[in-house]
This record gives sequence, structure tokens and C-alpha cells, in this order.
Amino acid sequence: METASKDLIIEKTANSKIAQVDFDNLPFGKVYSDHMLVCEYKNGAWQTPKIQPFGPLSLDPTAKVFHYGQSIFEGMKAYKDENGKVFLFRPEENYKRFNISSERLAMPAVPEEVFMNGLNELLKLDSDWIPTTPGSSMYIRPFGFASGSGLHASPADEYTFAIVLAPSGSYFAGKVKVKIEERYSRSANGGVGFAKAGGNYAGQFYPTQLAVDEGYQQVIWTDDTSHEYIEEAGAMNVFVRINDTLLTCPTSDRILDGITRKSILDIAKAEGIATEVRKISVKEIIEAAENGSLKEMFGAGTAAVVSPINAFGFRGTDYDLPELNDSYANRLKKRMTDIQYNKSEDPFGWRVEV
Ligand code: PLP
Ligand code: COI
Repeated sequence: METASKDLIIEKTANSKIAQVDFDNLPFGKVYSDHMLVCEYKNGAWQTPKIQPFGPLSLDPTAKVFHYGQSIFEGMKAYKDENGKVFLFRPEENYKRFNISSERLAMPAVPEEVFMNGLNELLKLDSDWIPTTPGSSMYIRPFGFASGSGLHASPADEYTFAIVLAPSGSYFAGKVKVKIEERYSRSANGGVGFAKAGGNYAGQFYPTQLAVDEGYQQVIWTDDTSHEYIEEAGAMNVFVRINDTLLTCPTSDRILDGITRKSILDIAKAEGIATEVRKISVKEIIEAAENGSLKEMFGAGTAAVVSPINAFGFRGTDYDLPELNDSYANRLKKRMTDIQYNKSEDPFGWRVEV
């Protein structure tokens, strides 16, 4: 056991698993590096964070996370360039959003030092695990949950913050066919839709499974009151191109303020692409699909990167989107990933070396 600084304990594993990993065929989020960061909150204060061998956490059966779902997470990636340098993409945005989620779930804010220093040290320790095969990266999952126990339906008095690392390939295997959902809702005004709360995802599984059974990969959620306007997909924000204009809906109480979404908007503007952030009705999309002005739809998110949507379904009818040689999705994805993998200049100042 060693102490990297007075604020972080490092306990290295004696049994690295790295030799067992096929880095050329990585799934998404199923292989984990040798170490993880864990920091506990008790007696009203965050304790000394610790990097320790990846492994199970022990919890009381009445830990409030099990009963009342006080649980949040983030999704980030680390990228390794040709020279072995490692970069994060806008990590301060994830840190800020983590604590926006904490506040909404009545959890204590995680100090920046615990999050950022812990993440950097963890990535340095497990840097051999960061994959370099094209399209792969180190998916980073910071998460926090109520580890304090008790059956009273009130916030816990103890919490755990942890970070695990998953060297990963693509989130989606191919193009994506989505269902525009109008019966179920992901979130509601005044709810927790804007937070990365575990329960937001649990609530999506059943309606998404119904869509999967019908042959779709993801659901596009519509607003919970009228179901007339599209909002976002299960794990990504959504962009629509009508003629040459790139549209995405505004964020709200109900929608995750995606870091990829705002980056794509900034890159599109810098590229001279006309963008509009406004409500987009299902009716408008269907009319545009029917009259040929709907050129593209794509999802954007850390895990999904930029994922072209090749068809959408609404009320049992499927609408195919054209194959474009000069798609905005490909162009914007390349601009963004070139910045992420240190293959181009970074005029926005988003890349942060580890
Ligand atoms: N929307 C939802 C529901 C998500 O889970 C994600 C993934 O994080 C996104 C959007 C995209 O957000 P970001 O680009 O910050 O990863
Ligand atoms: C991410 O893109 O990082 C996400 O959090 C999506 C996730 C549900 C896989």
C-alpha cells in the first residue's frame, strides 16, 4: 500500500488480468481494468479516496440504494493517441453534471479533487489498459450511491463514490433503427430526467424492450404531456437534418444536457452548418420524411459517439432515411473524434491531457 499524496491511497493488485484481454475485439462495458477508485462519505465528510484492485463492494442489505434508488453516474472516455499520450474530453463538464445529479438526488456533492485527481491517478495506473484499436477507447464510469442503511424513506447518511474503467469498443454494432414512443414517458417536468440517475434508465428498460421486440434498437422519447415533440433517445441526444439545417431540441428538466450534443452544435457552427435549437414535432419529421427534406437523423452521446439513425418507426409505420455520402453525421463525428484522439488541432480547448 502506498500513499500518492495525503489525499489518495493506492493499493495495487498483485494479479493483473491484462494478459487475458483481447484488445482487438472489445465489447462495450464488459471488460474492466485492474483497479478502481472508491471514496466513502460518512460522519458528514468524504473520507480519503482509495485506488484498489477492481472487485466486489460489500453492502448492507438495507443500503438505501437498493430500496430508494439513490444512485447516479457519469459516462466519460479517455483516448490514447499514436504517441501513447492520454486525453480526456471536457472532463470538467462531467464533474459539474455529476454534482447537478447529486443535488437532485439529495446526495452530497463530490469534491473536485476526489473526482479529478482520483480519475487522473486511476488512468495513469491503468494506462496500459487504454485501447488503441480504431473506434475503441477507455469508457469511464464514475458513479455514486447511497451505501448508508435503513428502511426509512429518507436520504442515507453514508454514500460511496467510485470510478471503474472499461476498455470498450462501439456501443452500437451498426446503424440504428428507432421507435418514436408516444405511450410511455422517460421523464416529466419537475422530475429527474436532466440528472444521470440510475432510475431514469431502469424506467426505460421495459418500453425499450417492447421496441426491441418490434425490431428497433432504441426509443426516441417524446414530451410527456402531448407526446407531439421528440426529446432524446435512451442513451443519446437526437439531431435531425431537414434540408441543410441541423436541428436538435432544447434541453429541459426532462432531458439530459449532453456534452456530445453541445460539442456537436459548436462544431457544426464552426463548420458553417446552419443549426437550430428548437422544438421538433413528430408531425414535422414525418412530413419531412414524406416530402424528401428529411436528410438525416443521428444520436449523439459519449458511449454512442455519433450514431446515424437509418430508420424510425411511428404508429407501426417505418420511415427509412437515405444513405448520404456527405452526411453531417460522418463529418461532425470525424471532427469531434479527431479532437478527442489528438489527431487535429483543438480550437475549442476541450482536450485535457492526463
Ligand atoms: N441522453 C441520455 C439519456 C444519456 O444517457 C446520454 C449519455 O450520457 C446522453 C443523452 C448523452 O450525453 P453525453 O453526450 O454527455 O454523454
Ligand atoms: C454514456 O454515453 O456515457 C452513457 O451514459 C450512456 C450509457 C447509458 C451507456
